[in-house]
Amino acid sequence: MSLENLLTWAPAGSREASLVRQVNFDRLPVHVAVIMDGNGRWAAQRHLPRVEGHRAGIDSVRDIVETSARLGIEVLTLYAFSVENWKRPPTEVAVLMGLLKRYLRLELENLLVNDIRFQVIGRQDELPADVRRELDVGRERTRDNHGMLFNIALNYGGRAEIVEAARRAIEDGLRPSDLTEQRFGEFLYTAGQPDPDLLIRTSGEMRVSNFLLWQIAYAEIWVTETLWPDFRARHLLEAILDYQKRDRRYGGITQPAVVGH
Ligand code: IPE
Ligand code: IPE
Ligand code: MG
Repeated sequence: MSLENLLTWAPAGSREASLVRQVNFDRLPVHVAVIMDGNGRWAAQRHLPRVEGHRAGIDSVRDIVETSARLGIEVLTLYAFSVENWKRPPTEVAVLMGLLKRYLRLELENLLVNDIRFQVIGRQDELPADVRRELDVGRERTRDNHGMLFNIALNYGGRAEIVEAARRAIEDGLRPSDLTEQRFGEFLYTAGQPDPDLLIRTSGEMRVSNFLLWQIAYAEIWVTETLWPDFRARHLLEAILDYQKRDRRYGGITQPAVVGH
């Protein structure tokens, strides 16, 4: 989307409009990954049950998916449910699954309008059948879209993904001498996708909680105290602007600016 169009979307004089003007669209992160955290704390601050935080977090998901697509982000990955999250009370898990189903049903048209392709990363066979069905519909209906790829990490664990990839590589008969980092990456859920450039975590926790362990090797990490249900387009823009100030060295050194030429 052009800057003019983006500015039509961001109200004149708003914080969003001022942030959008500062974005360098030639240096956008290609893949943004988000650990959506803090729903429970958001609810606790309001003396509400934890699930109300999850419910409120849906509005943030909607805003971030749409904003990312508008900005021209190529891949967005949202961490919705980890393999460890089954440790939570069954009622909380059930509400999370129900919300996910509802989100997909309500947002499908929006995903189509915005040309977004939807995909799931994680162990889907362990998810309830009705959730799997909804995910299949979402994937099928958005299959031919060519805009942003929206990965939802569901029943996802980074270590589980790596072990599964190793198992698949063995089953495929991959010879040890043919095993390279690139070849191994083709057995991960994210095969064919660029690694995340920017990893965002909300609610202030300084950990990666088993998220995309292989893929975030050189991701720039941005942590905000903002709780996920309060996270909106302006926070995403702040993260992107901060990312654009970073010096990504990948283990090398920064080339000094050439003076006098
Ligand atoms: C993130 O919010 C949502 C999921 C992990 C599904 P939390 O539920 O972890 O909220 P906090 O961290 O307890 O505040
Ligand atoms: C990370 O949040 C998982 C998701 C956002 C789905 P958690 O709340 O589960 O992580 P920890 O327990 O604080 O590490
Ligand atoms: Mg949490």
